Amino acid sequence: MITINAKSIALTAPDKTPLLSFLRNELGLSGPKLGCGEGECGACMVLVDGRPQTSCNLPLWAVKGHAVTTLEGLGTAQPHALQQAFIEENAGQCGYCLSGILVSASALLQQTPEPTRAQICQALDKNLCRCGAHERIIRAVQRAAQMSKMAAA
Ligand code: FES
Repeated sequence: MITINAKSIALTAPDKTPLLSFLRNELGLSGPKLGCGEGECGACMVLVDGRPQTSCNLPLWAVKGHAVTTLEGLGTAQPHALQQAFIEENAGQCGYCLSGILVSASALLQQTPEPTRAQICQALDKNLCRCGAHERIIRAVQRAAQMSKMAAA
């Protein structure tokens, strides 16, 4: 068994199946994307027990008994602050990298609610954006941190 987006799921694929394939092909979760397929681009990023991990190179056996969160698990009834901030900052260009970036940024804000620019850059270091929307992405993460702070006040 595995917990995915707060639901218990039976593993119905061979142990060596990459988590990304299971998420997309068996569960229909299209948030995590296939980019490089080698753990280098971050398009497939998910949270495993709250930590960002690439799912393209993570076999199912390694996540048995763990909790996985995909983009779909971040904002359900209403958008996550990050999703709202990314819309407001128009941070997406082609959008292919955004699922992984949102997942990585959510882990950052969970650990560091008011991150510095340097901390944001470091947290997103494993997420590539080929469109060059980095400045807008950083602003969106800063905005999300502000939104969360105001909501908590
Ligand atoms: Fe997994 Fe690139 S597709 S890191």
